[in-house]
Amino acid sequence: MRDVSARLLENERIGPRLCLLRLEAPEIAARALPGQFVAVRAAEGFFPLLRRPMSICAVEDSSLLLLVKVVGVGTRLLYEAEPGAHLHLLGPLGRPFEVEGDFEVAVLFGGGVGVAPLVFLERELRRRGRRVCTLLGARTASELVLRHLEDPFVATEDGSAGLRGTVLDLWRIRLQGHIRGRMKWFSCGPLAMLRALAWESQAGGWEHEVALETPMGCGFGVCQGCVVPLRGPRPRYGLACMEGPVFKAQEVNWDALGL
Ligand SMILES: Cc1cc2nc3c(=O)[nH]c(=O)nc-3n(C[C@H](O)[C@H](O)[C@H](O)COP(=O)(O)OP(=O)(O)OC[C@H]3O[C@@H](n4cnc5c(N)ncnc54)[C@H](O)[C@@H]3O)c2cc1C
Ligand code: FES
Repeated sequence: MRDVSARLLENERIGPRLCLLRLEAPEIAARALPGQFVAVRAAEGFFPLLRRPMSICAVEDSSLLLLVKVVGVGTRLLYEAEPGAHLHLLGPLGRPFEVEGDFEVAVLFGGGVGVAPLVFLERELRRRGRRVCTLLGARTASELVLRHLEDPFVATEDGSAGLRGTVLDLWRIRLQGHIRGRMKWFSCGPLAMLRALAWESQAGGWEHEVALETPMGCGFGVCQGCVVPLRGPRPRYGLACMEGPVFKAQEVNWDALGL
């Protein structure tokens, strides 16, 4: 884990509430793995006090890409940051996706800004020669972030792009039955989507990892503010920042998570 001051090289505003930041952070870029995140200080000074967790969307040479959706004060400051600014980043943090293993096809499901860690993951899987199928969902076309992904299948709730419906509808209607070979699922997005996918993968008997975007305080195991209820012989709580953000879907107690 490194704490660095990273220069903002580029801030591409790809919508009124979405931007793609490119930051020069060689120490983190050299160590980052798909599924990991950085904790970003959105501004100098004490406000906002806590760093904001952001998935590492991609690593390109010595720079990191972060995809940011504006939801509050911290993400608004990141959206407004201008090239040349320095942002304090702590990372890489958290447990990454498991890309090794006994599967022939990786099926990636992204919902909204949950696409962020899948870009890095898709690139790594393809680099390793894996077959990859990516499904993306959003409420409407303007919230779809397709760039940097290779030919994703698309669904929108309002039907403005791709299939009208969810990524699960897309899976059931367009893809299920067409994929040959042992699958592993990877997903990131809203909790309701992840829970529905977890049930589907359990019913199908497919291995499945989810990246949770549980609200966090510190990002490295101190504040206990990111607990996730887990199943097992002895049900317990795990810290999303240390044991996650990537969990096995069947390990998460979705009923106790509260949607
Ligand atoms: C591991 C991880 C990876 C993440 N990756 C990304 C990413 O790649 N891109 C991205 O845009 N966001 C990502 N998030 C979510 C992001 O961290 C929050 O949106 C951000 O911290 C909100 O900060 P804010 O100051 O703008 O909002 P605040 O002013 O703190 O809050 C505004 C509103 O957003 C809600 N909120 C805050 N945090 C979250 C959260 N984690 N999930 C849902 N609602 C929340 C608050 O309850 C409040 O209603 C990630 C979160 C985690 C834990
Ligand atoms: S965010 Fe502080 S312990 Fe996980």
